[in-house]
Amino acid sequence: MTLQIKDLAEYEKVYAESIKDPEAFWAAQADTFTWRKKWDKIKECNFDDVNINWFVGGKLNITENCLDRHIPSRANKTALLWEPNNPDDEVISYTYQELLNAVCKAANMLKANGITKGDRIILYMPMVPELAIMVLACARIGAIHSVVFAGFSAQALADRTQDAQAKMIVCSDINRRGTKIIPVKAIVDEAVAIGCPSVETVLVHQIGQEDIAWNHTIDKWIHHEVKDMSEVCEAEEMDAEDMLFILYTSGSTGKPKGVVHTCGGYMVYTCFSFKNVFQYKEEDVYWCTADIGWITGHSYIIYGPLLAGATTVMFEGVPTYPDAGRFWNICAKHKITQFYTAPTAIRALMACGDHWPEEYDLSSIKVLGTVGEPINEEAWHWYNEKIGKKKAPIVDTWWQTETGGILITPLPGITDTKPCYASYPLPGIEPVLVDSEGELVEGNNVEGLLCINQAWPSMIRTTYGDHERCKNVYFKMFKGRYFTGDGARRDEDGRIRVIGRVDDVINVSGHRMGTAEVENAINEHPNVIESAVVGFPHEIKGQGIYAYIITDQKEAVFADFFNEIKQTVAKEIGPIAKPDDIMVVSGLPKTRSGKIMRSILRKIAANDASNLGDISTLLNPEIVTEIKKTKGIN
Ligand code: WTA
Repeated sequence: MTLQIKDLAEYEKVYAESIKDPEAFWAAQADTFTWRKKWDKIKECNFDDVNINWFVGGKLNITENCLDRHIPSRANKTALLWEPNNPDDEVISYTYQELLNAVCKAANMLKANGITKGDRIILYMPMVPELAIMVLACARIGAIHSVVFAGFSAQALADRTQDAQAKMIVCSDINRRGTKIIPVKAIVDEAVAIGCPSVETVLVHQIGQEDIAWNHTIDKWIHHEVKDMSEVCEAEEMDAEDMLFILYTSGSTGKPKGVVHTCGGYMVYTCFSFKNVFQYKEEDVYWCTADIGWITGHSYIIYGPLLAGATTVMFEGVPTYPDAGRFWNICAKHKITQFYTAPTAIRALMACGDHWPEEYDLSSIKVLGTVGEPINEEAWHWYNEKIGKKKAPIVDTWWQTETGGILITPLPGITDTKPCYASYPLPGIEPVLVDSEGELVEGNNVEGLLCINQAWPSMIRTTYGDHERCKNVYFKMFKGRYFTGDGARRDEDGRIRVIGRVDDVINVSGHRMGTAEVENAINEHPNVIESAVVGFPHEIKGQGIYAYIITDQKEAVFADFFNEIKQTVAKEIGPIAKPDDIMVVSGLPKTRSGKIMRSILRKIAANDASNLGDISTLLNPEIVTEIKKTKGIN
């Protein structure tokens, strides 16, 4: 069985050993899984040309480890428990045996539709069990899944489909979000019309009752296709370094990049981190509220929990439907033992009032988790007092799409917790702080750029179709280290607090948005001449999006114009990327070489006119005065 650390002394011992001899440590962890063939070598990792290989020569299938492996002891244990959008609808659960059967049927359906090992499949679906089943069905036959968050627009979906050269899109007819119904299949139709020439088939899962537009040459209903499929499907033998999935995420430049994870290392790390960070015990019912469209859903709704033989809960709806007590209602209803969510949700629910959690019995909760963005002190205390009743330790887990799993976090009941601190590295993880020159920042009570020294099994392997980009973004800046893009502080006792991005990425409600990506979307509006986008502090979202725009539009119709800009962004990317605030300006502060001075714009958006730096060296210093005046600050 995968190691589960029990106390502080063990953590300290295991941690020290894992850093001294990572190969021995990871070999012991990997040994607890089912391999078709054992590895020849634990790792071969070179950060210079980003050649990362774990469990070299090993053969396996991750779904055999998520499902088949548990059948002898857990066939009748609930693997997946699904809570519908409408609280009066039926809860659906799958035992490990039922989930295995459903995954095999779906895998056979994919095969029958021409999918073979190595093909890319886009999954564009709401939070229904069929999404988890399709993820695993892809992995079963060695197809590479790329889940696209169902809130992304047709354009964003088409971009990702094309980048991945996907052969198939799997979607649903609709998506139920509270009282809203989103026409998912119609968005897929739009994406196909924009241009997804690689797509041969669109498989559609039926949720609604209404007729929808149908393209007879490529569309197929899943319930028709899956009906006669066998419940047995031999798992494809995969190399440890074969691709498991691509997940697109935003960077500071250009279009989103496809982060690639592979089978062996990802499996070992997600299972290990899940068991330890949540201290999962056999009877527990674990719930992560993330969407499977993000990495958190991949690693800690599907793979990590199932690899560990856990009961994992999936929720279709939103935290405020039918009312702001829904999360707490679900916790009480299913006697949730570990609850994992995002600071933005905590802040939003905190704002709805204490009476909501007070209405429900939350005594089953043993561990609380947060992820995705820095949690502010007020929200941390509220979570601790109103939800955990000061009895459930909060694990503030720091990690990234690129890291595959949680790297820095308290261990509940084992290491201490401190508000806003992700605190301590998991075994095998060696975080360091460096300055902009790459010099180590040593000692305590210091700040620096967060890097990770050694390779770990679930780290990014490449950015799909563009290995140079992966090298340049993460490995070139500081030789021999992985650069996270985050700034961090180490306190007097060595705990780490992640402060936020140091690059041009905005973290909106825990979702990463590249400033360049949002600007490109805004610039699609015919009346926008130029734009610059920055993040600013937002009470609920953590960071909001502030857009400065140069336009030839006449002032009289600004209200409509702003609305159009928001609609343009929703169309290009999705509603989550809409700017919260827009200011029309006559120019943007630029250096003499033409670079936009975002640091100045960021400060002004935050109503802070102090320390703008030496603006006299700008190409157009007068513009700073103008922007400050418009904002009403001096
Ligand atoms: C931020 C989400 C502070 C950070 C799993 C990181 C955090 C980015 C935390 C990755 C945390 C994530 N405290 N900041 N506990 N967790 N972040 O790829 O800036 O969607 O680089 O992965 O979110 O976001 P991503």
